[in-house]
Formats: sequence, C-alpha cells, structure tokens
Amino acid sequence: MMTDNNIYPIFDRMLSRQDKEELLGQHSMMIWFTGLSGSGKSTIAIALERELHKRGLLCRILDGDNIRSGINNNLGFTEADRVENIRRIAEVSKLFIDTGIITIAAFISPNNDIREMAANIIGQENFLEVYVSTPLAECERRDVKGLYAKARRGEIQNFTGISAPFEAPAHPALTLDTSVLSLEESVNKLLDLVLSKIQIK
Ligand code: PPS
Repeated sequence: MMTDNNIYPIFDRMLSRQDKEELLGQHSMMIWFTGLSGSGKSTIAIALERELHKRGLLCRILDGDNIRSGINNNLGFTEADRVENIRRIAEVSKLFIDTGIITIAAFISPNNDIREMAANIIGQENFLEVYVSTPLAECERRDVKGLYAKARRGEIQNFTGISAPFEAPAHPALTLDTSVLSLEESVNKLLDLVLSKIQIK
C-alpha cells in the first residue's frame, strides 16, 4: 500500500489548463456577447464558432437555449435572478476555459455590474467583451420571438429595453451593430481579433 505521496510525484498534480491548451493546440478564452434580445448575439456566436471550428479550434457556445432550459431553469428575469443566471454561467464558463476550450457566451447580461462580476469570476485577462449594439427599434422591428409585442402589451414583466434597463458597456473590445453590418462583416471583424489571441505561436 502506498503511504508516501512523494513516491509518484508526477501523478499527484492535476493536469493544468496549459497542458490542455497544448493538447488542443489553442489558447482558451471567453468571448462574452452582450446586447438586447434579438440583437443578433446568438447568430454571430454560432457563425463565429463555425469559422473557428473550420480552423481546427474547439469552442463551446453557452446561450439561453442550453442554459436557461437546463442548469438555470429555476431562474426568471428579476434583477436577482439575472445576477444568479450570469454568476452560474460564469462559473461554468471558467470550467470550460480551464479545459482549454474557447468559450462563447451570448446573454443579455444587462448591466456593467453583472458583466464585471462575470469577468471577475472568469478572470479579466481571459475576457473579451463584445457589444452587439443593434438599436432597440431594430430588435423590436425584428421581434423574432414575438416577445417585444407581448412586453408592450404588458404580458411580460421586466422585459429588457421595455420595462427593464439595459446599460451599454463602457469599453467593449468590439461593438457590432447588426442593423448596419452583415453577418459576414460582423464575424470577420471578430475573427481577426479572436484569432490573434487564441493561436499558439
Ligand atoms: S439575462 O438578462 O442575461 O439574464 O438574460 P438571458 O439569460 O440572456 O435571457 C434572455 C432571453 O430570454 C428571453 N426572455 C427575456 N429577455 C429579457 N427580459 C425578459 N423579461 C425576458 N423573458 C424572456 C428572451 O428571448 C431573451 O432571448 P435572446 O436570446 O436574448 O433574444
């Protein structure tokens, strides 16, 4: 029976983020989209992941579809629930990043305090904030899920941009307005920035 932990010193160290980044041949990071509902966050996230995947880079997208329906299905849209939503997302993201995976989050994350909390959990040095700044009028015109109309009729409470606030980030790494830029233009702008940070030299 082994009593001395130092007999196999090499086995007692958990593999590090760097070990996993080397295995994958990439640096991991957090790409954090913020913006109104319907602004285009998830659409850009999906297109970005496809471009990175084509280049042999492993990503994980986190968005409402896979988070609010599962791990966060007990949360609504009060201020406190939004904080808890983002806190859990940030903790989960940190695990992916520590596994060497490029992590892409697409959540409204409506104010500076919430985004600052996420950046602090994940580590400021890993955090690339992308503001999808599509104006409210355009998001409401699109109304992909019919939620803006419901919010205007008072059938949904605390709806961001209508009956709950959205605070634009002060210093995002990149701002993308999808009412002006095509999807391809948005992704290309982002891709240049991301590739410069994740490729192992
Ligand atoms: S937050 O603020 O970051 O916690 O929100 P998030 O997790 O990104 O969820 C936003 C999506 O939930 C739908 N939805 C609402 N959004 C805002 N306010 C209210 N009250 C609300 N109720 C439901 C909405 O479809 C958002 O989807 P996206 O993908 O952003 O369009």
